Amino acid sequence: MKVVILDTPTDVARYGADLFQQQLQRNPASVFGLATGSTPVQLYRELIERNRQGLLSFREVRTFNLDEYMDLPATHPQSYRHFMNSEFFDHIDIDPANTRVPPGDAADPIAACTDYERAIADAGGIDIQLLGIGRNGHIGFNEPTSCLTSRTRVKTLTRETIEDNARFFSAGEHQPHLSVTMGIGTIMEARLVLLLATGESKAAAVKAMVEGPVSAWCPASALQMHPAAVVLVDEAAASQLS
Ligand code: F6R
Repeated sequence: MKVVILDTPTDVARYGADLFQQQLQRNPASVFGLATGSTPVQLYRELIERNRQGLLSFREVRTFNLDEYMDLPATHPQSYRHFMNSEFFDHIDIDPANTRVPPGDAADPIAACTDYERAIADAGGIDIQLLGIGRNGHIGFNEPTSCLTSRTRVKTLTRETIEDNARFFSAGEHQPHLSVTMGIGTIMEARLVLLLATGESKAAAVKAMVEGPVSAWCPASALQMHPAAVVLVDEAAASQLS
């Protein structure tokens, strides 16, 4: 695991964008695993700007998102499909048909999870998997105690994650407690895993991920076992590292 400590969230976003740009130079038909949440937004803006300037193109790229809420239609403003369209896909030259988000509203969720895994394999696997980290060490919606070899599946969210994400829902609005998420085993098969963490609220999780034991209590600690995991943190998120 390579840990890169940078001054600010802007530096983290630029460094991350450089890695995507280099991958696109190597292979314009790359396959990217993408994340939602606050952390990657600046990176997406950086990529949008570089796309606008013609420095990189997503014309041949295929994407697979990490996770989606169960029982929210794709059109719901809090669905991760809606987030990805409005924060990223609508602003770049990607073919929308090449973007996939786990289906949160499938009639048969178990079959849909198997299909999602098959689609990733059929695409040749993921070149770069982008991740954020939850305060409890989750990656995707693989909450603490998740099996470290898990595959795409339905997962119950912890109280902490529900509370952390409540800020995106208005008072009284239905907030799902179930999700569909790539598994830790799925994530670990990506050729490069790129985890971003910024801000002091992530410092304890970053410490557990980097310096703690590899344990299902901190799902992100599995990345210690990945042959090419890069962790980009700002000074605040790195503040508890030894
Ligand atoms: C998002 C995801 C989550 C987030 C994590 C951090 O697709 O899978 O694991 O990366 O909850 O969220 P933020 O970036 O909002 O702090």
